[in-house]
Amino acid sequence: MNKGSGSRLPSQAPAGERLVVEEGVCLQDMNTFAIAATAARLVRVREARDAAAIARDPVLGPAPKLILGGGSNLLLTRDPAPLVVKVEIAGMRVLTSTPKATVLEAGAGVRWHEFVRWSIAQGHPGLENLALIPGTVGAAPVQNIGAYGLEVAQRIESVVATDLSSGQAVEFDAEACRFGYRDSVFKREWAGRCLITHVRFRLPRPWRAVLGYADLDRHFSRAGLAHPDAQQIFEAVCAIRKAKLPDPAEVGNAGSFFKNPIVEAATRDELGQAFPGLVSYPQDDGRHKLAAAWMIESCGWKGRNLGRAGIHARHALVLVNLGGAAGAEIIALAENVRADVLAKFGVRLEYEPVVVG
Ligand code: EPU
Repeated sequence: MNKGSGSRLPSQAPAGERLVVEEGVCLQDMNTFAIAATAARLVRVREARDAAAIARDPVLGPAPKLILGGGSNLLLTRDPAPLVVKVEIAGMRVLTSTPKATVLEAGAGVRWHEFVRWSIAQGHPGLENLALIPGTVGAAPVQNIGAYGLEVAQRIESVVATDLSSGQAVEFDAEACRFGYRDSVFKREWAGRCLITHVRFRLPRPWRAVLGYADLDRHFSRAGLAHPDAQQIFEAVCAIRKAKLPDPAEVGNAGSFFKNPIVEAATRDELGQAFPGLVSYPQDDGRHKLAAAWMIESCGWKGRNLGRAGIHARHALVLVNLGGAAGAEIIALAENVRADVLAKFGVRLEYEPVVVG
């Protein structure tokens, strides 16, 4: 496999005749912010060869595309690109198992939480800290989902995708994905140019718990559990998330709306002196990650709203659609929050979701 770039796999089957193009599709149920936008045309991909067929189609191939998984990291501020490609590739299986690691593979359209639950139930722990994250398996590597001390990058063996310019399959090993904090090659040079069809996960054996995240440790010390197993961590993460984060099925949201900014140690020290309550975490490279939620809360935004866009009352990093909000209203609120944090702390917050428009 080529290092540093995706390596080509053998050609896939010829273009399938099964592609069905739907027109004028309402996307409200396909994005967790529940924004009402319309796809001029929508095609569903149920197998890798459907993606190849789209790439090779004379009309669909060249059309600008929005690739949609669970729509949980997306803010639509207008109708999206001419073609929406909805990824619905199913399947979960064990690829290999050795004394050192088990490698699992899942289709990009599998719901992330279902995959985590299945892997643990099958006796392959290692993803439990990432329980209950909304979205699909295919979206997980795009923004390198992370929570409670674990990033998915630490468990990825490779990502299999279809190159949308050629219809060829391409495999990216973990290095080629160039993962960073909520970042990967799929958000940058490969954005819109490939469609992830399958993800392979390497779960090291023997399993070791990932503990040390404040919320998790508090949970287990209260429960009197010094050595929780994977199932107990899975349940703890679910309980913590349910207590803090709104369920997109009840109130539209895309999880954290801002990334936690990473600053130099000197900046962190200056801010720490000016704001003694500042919450931050040292990074391996000597820099510090600031808790954006703390800064937003200290600007007085927690629980407030601007029209139909609000800041969640239990977590200041989560913007919510209070009902019928347009994407532009969410952006207006985000820009107000961003301006206040910049004025008070001199730190510019970056959006986490992909904004269309
Ligand atoms: N805090 C506040 N006010 C709040 C919420 C949090 O001051 O309303 C402070 C607290 O001091 C808390 C700290 O911020 O200890 C960190 O909060 P939390 O543990 O909830 O994590 P986070 O940094 O806000 C990140 C991820 C989440 C992930 C959690 C848990 C980002 C942008 N977000 O949030 O990911 O679930 O850690 O690991 O890195 C997502 O990306 O959509 C997401 C939900």
